Amino acid sequence: MAIRTVNPSGMARTADASQPDAPGRTGFSALLQLLPYARPYILHFLAVLALVLVFNTSAVLQPYLVKVSIDSHIARGDAAGLRWLAAAYVGVVLVGGVANYLQMIVLQKAGQSVIRQIRADLFRHVESQSMAFFDHNAIGRLVTNVSSDTETVSQFFTQFFLSLVRDGLSVVMIVVAMFELDARIALECLVIVPVIFAISAFFRVRLRRAYQETRTRLSNIVAFLAENLAGIRIIQLFNQEARQARRFGELNESHRQANIRAYGISVLFNRSLEVLGNLAVAAMVLIGGRAVLHHAILFGTLYAFISYIRQFFQPINTITQQWNNLQSSMVAAERIGRVFQVEPQIQDPPDPLPPGIVASVRGRVEFDHVTFGYQPGQPVLRDITFTVEPGEFIGFVGATGAGKTSVMSLLARFYEPDEGVIRLDGWDIRQFRQADLHRLIGLVQQDVHLFTGTVLDNIRLFRDDIPESAVRRAAEVVGAAEVIERLPQGYQTRLYAKGANLSTGERQLISFARIVALNPRVLILDEATANLDSQTELWVQRGLRAVARNRTTLVIAHRLSTVREADRIIVLDRGRIAESGTHAQLLAQGGLYAELHRRSGVEVAGDTV
Ligand SMILES: Nc1ncnc2c1ncn2[C@@H]1O[C@H](COP(=O)(O)OP(=O)(O)OP(=O)(O)O)[C@@H](O)[C@H]1O
Ligand SMILES: [Mg+2]
Repeated sequence: MAIRTVNPSGMARTADASQPDAPGRTGFSALLQLLPYARPYILHFLAVLALVLVFNTSAVLQPYLVKVSIDSHIARGDAAGLRWLAAAYVGVVLVGGVANYLQMIVLQKAGQSVIRQIRADLFRHVESQSMAFFDHNAIGRLVTNVSSDTETVSQFFTQFFLSLVRDGLSVVMIVVAMFELDARIALECLVIVPVIFAISAFFRVRLRRAYQETRTRLSNIVAFLAENLAGIRIIQLFNQEARQARRFGELNESHRQANIRAYGISVLFNRSLEVLGNLAVAAMVLIGGRAVLHHAILFGTLYAFISYIRQFFQPINTITQQWNNLQSSMVAAERIGRVFQVEPQIQDPPDPLPPGIVASVRGRVEFDHVTFGYQPGQPVLRDITFTVEPGEFIGFVGATGAGKTSVMSLLARFYEPDEGVIRLDGWDIRQFRQADLHRLIGLVQQDVHLFTGTVLDNIRLFRDDIPESAVRRAAEVVGAAEVIERLPQGYQTRLYAKGANLSTGERQLISFARIVALNPRVLILDEATANLDSQTELWVQRGLRAVARNRTTLVIAHRLSTVREADRIIVLDRGRIAESGTHAQLLAQGGLYAELHRRSGVEVAGDTV
C-alpha cells in the first residue's frame, strides 16, 4: 500500500529525498498521508475508543462514589450501605484497570502493525530505486528513514492518538461531572483554564525548539559516528584518533547541553502546572469550604471537587507533552513522505518480453549511439556504438574516469542513456523486466560485496532454490573450491560483514562462483584496481577463464595482461571509443592502446610483449 504521488517535475536525475525543500507534504498533512495505513485496523481503534470510555468512566466514578459515601452514608451512620459502596468502588477500580490494560495492548498491536507495514513499504520502495537515487541520498539518512523515522511516527499511532482520545475525553467528563455536582462552583473552577492555556502556549514554543535542537544534535552525533566507523582504518592509519575524539567530544557536549536545556524547560513547565494545580486546590478549599460552612454544598461534594481539580490537571499535562510527540511525528512523516514521493526512475515496461524470449537470449550486446551523463548537460559517454556477438570475450581499457564503469552501469540498466539504445539479442533492454535483465546480465564489481552469512549463502545469495551441490560445482569451476575447503568450516564458514575475514583474492573467487551459480548470458567484470600477488592473480585469471566460457564476457581491465587474449579490445578515451581491435592489431596501430601498453610495460616489469 505504498503511497505514490507523481513527481511533478518528472526529473529523475534529481532524485534527492534529503533536500528539505524537496516537494512534499508538510506538517500535519504529511501525517494524514500515512493515515490510510491505519484503515485495516479500524476495528482495533474503535475497540480502543470503547475501552477508553470504560476507563474514563471508572476514573470519574471513583471520587463520586467517595462523595456518596461521605454525604449519604458516613454522615448518616449507615454502615451497611457503606459496605456496598466499598464493594462497588473496588469493582469500578478493577474494571478500570482491566480496560486500561486492554486499551494499551490493543492500541500497541494496531500501532505496531501500522508501522511494520509502513517500514516494509518504505524498504521495498527504496530497494526499487535506481542507482541515481543512491548517488543522491546518503545511505545513513535512508537508514534513519526506515528505522527511526518510522519509529517516531509510531508515536502518533500509539501515544498521540491514545492521549487525544483518553485525555481529551477525561477533561470533558471531569468538567461535566463538576457541573453535575454544582454548576456555580464548577464555573468558578473554569477560571483556571485560560491560565493553563497561557502557560502551555508560553512553554510549548520553547519546548519545541529545545527538542528540535536535541534531535538535530543527536543526528549530528549519529552521522559523525557512521562516517568515522566506516573510515576507521584511514583514521587509525593517519593517526587521527585523538583529533576525531576531540571533535566527537564537542558534538557530545553540545548534545548534553541541549538535552539539559530541554529537560530544564520541561521540568519547569510540569512544575508550573503542578503548582497551579495545588493553588487551585487551595482556592477550592477556600471557596468550597465556605460553601460547606454556609450549607450550600455537602462536605462530600467538596471532597469530590478537590479530587476532580487534581484529576483535571493530569490529562492536560499529558496532552501538552504529547504535543511534542506530534511535532516530531510530523517531521518524521515529512521525511518518510519525501522518500515515498520519489518514483523509481527505472520502471518495468507494462508489457515485458515473455519468458520464452527471455530464455532464448544468447547474449548479443549492442550499443547504438549511446550518450549519457550523470548530470544533465555533462555527458561522460558520447556516441558509444559497438556490437558484441554471443560468446565473445571483449576487453575495455582506458584511463581512469574514461567511462568504462559507466558503460557497464548502462548495460545493467542502473541508469538510462540520454540518447541512443542498448539492445540485448536485438531487444531494447527497456523491454525486459528488470528481474529478467539482471538474471541475464551478471556483474562482478570492482569491490566485491559480501554479506554477513555463510560462504554458501554468499555464493547462492540466499536463494535456497540453488542446491548446495550446484554451489560446490560452481566453486570448482572457478577454482574457488580448494580455497573454500581450507576455511575453518568450509562452505559453512561464517563471513564477517563485507567479508572482512577473507583476502581480496578469496573474495574475488567467491564472487566468480556466485556468477557461475547465477549462470548469466552476459558477464560483466569490473576488474579490481588493487594489485594482486602473483599467486592470487593466477587464481583470478583461471577463475575468469572458467566463468567466461560459454557466455558473452565484457571485462574492464586495469592490467592489460587480463585482456591480451580477448577477441576484441575497446579503448575508451574521455567518454568516446578511441579505437578497437585485437591486442596485436592495436599494438600495430601504434595509437592509445600501444601507448598504454608501453607505459604498463615500464611500470609492471615483465608484462611487455
Ligand atoms: N555516480 C556518479 N555520479 C556522477 N558522476 C559520476 C558517477 N560515477 C562516475 N562519474 C563520473 O563519470 C566519469 C566516468 O566514470 P567511470 O566510473 O565510468 O570511469 P572508469 O573508466 O570506470 O574509471 P576507473 O578506471 O577509475 O574505474 C568520471 O568523470 C566520473 O567522475
Ligand atoms: Mg571504473
